[in-house]
Amino acid sequence: MKRPVAYVAGTGRGIPERVMTNHDFAALGLDTNHEWIFERTGIVQRHIASDAETTCWMAAKAARQAMSRAGVGPGEIDAIVLSTATPDRLLPSTAVDLQAELGATRAAAFDVSAACSGWIYGMTVAEGLMQSGVVETALVVGAEKMSAIVDWRDRSTCVLFGDGAGAAVLKRARPNSSRGILSTFMRSDGTLAELLWRPSGGATIPFSERVLQDRSSFVRMAGRETFKHAVRSMSEACDRALDGAKLRAEDIDILIPHQANVRIIEATAKYASVPMDKVYVNVDRYGNTSSASIPIALDEAMESGRVTEGTTALCVAFGAGFTWGSMVIRF
Ligand code: UT7
Repeated sequence: MKRPVAYVAGTGRGIPERVMTNHDFAALGLDTNHEWIFERTGIVQRHIASDAETTCWMAAKAARQAMSRAGVGPGEIDAIVLSTATPDRLLPSTAVDLQAELGATRAAAFDVSAACSGWIYGMTVAEGLMQSGVVETALVVGAEKMSAIVDWRDRSTCVLFGDGAGAAVLKRARPNSSRGILSTFMRSDGTLAELLWRPSGGATIPFSERVLQDRSSFVRMAGRETFKHAVRSMSEACDRALDGAKLRAEDIDILIPHQANVRIIEATAKYASVPMDKVYVNVDRYGNTSSASIPIALDEAMESGRVTEGTTALCVAFGAGFTWGSMVIRF
């Protein structure tokens, strides 16, 4: 097993206050119901951010908690890597807003765009920056305001998503320590981009009266196809991360998968031979928070004592792109 370069020194989460249950969709005039949503996805409720609860606001809340638990001040952070599909604006990045908000005056700051796999991508990038020697301490945040980009008239997508942020402080591993990131794996397949995307609103088809009318700047998803690819890709990613860490399924204490749909989680766990009592599930309370889902789940698992010193965790993600990735972390 390789000696880890980076370890997780603290985690945090920033969750908007307002809760929206499955029953609340009736008030929007949508032809849906709790039974359909719960049976197909396992979702019961999600948090929806107010105007004041921006992507940066949620990120800062998560980051401050992670920094306080890691005992790290803003001046000690060398890099801020923020994954988001919902930046507060397109230029400059939300990471620089977070840098300013935290007063992290020494930090390089940039966004990573890899949809729901973004936090795994971001952690891998931060680990690489440590490997190269330019960074000692990094803040890796997944922050998403999905409610701002879903089509609230499309019942097949808007019921699935929620808002929130999760963060981890990564520090350089001590020599000879076995604590830290043991393996990482990342893949993508852009030939499938149009299965889960926002067709308009970028540089090719900028916002216009027509875009607003045909609602093509909102998220569109081919649900069935995405489901199949998610299970296949997350299963592959579990194998690759275990191979990379030279571990077997029975060595894993907890599986923390991306929280899109409990059926995808169950299928992935079954393939990976990890029993469901070792799988962290909170999709019922948050819905799909894209790249925030794994760090939120990790933070809850740490807070509740399911992840403690010595725990070996397998994290696995899949999202638009398609992108997918995984990581074995020893705490
Ligand atoms: O985070 C990135 C990864 N994202 C995912 O992994 C999501 C993957 N996909 C899924 O989780 C599932 O495909 C969904 C939960 C999105 C959908 O479940 P499904 O079993 O694949 O349903 P479906 O899309 O095939 O739709 C079945 C029926 C359709 O009606 P007809 O054509 O059979 O009459 C839909 O119109 O369910 C209808 N439907 C709904 N009915 C009530 C779709 N959305 C709703 C709804 N309420 N909210």
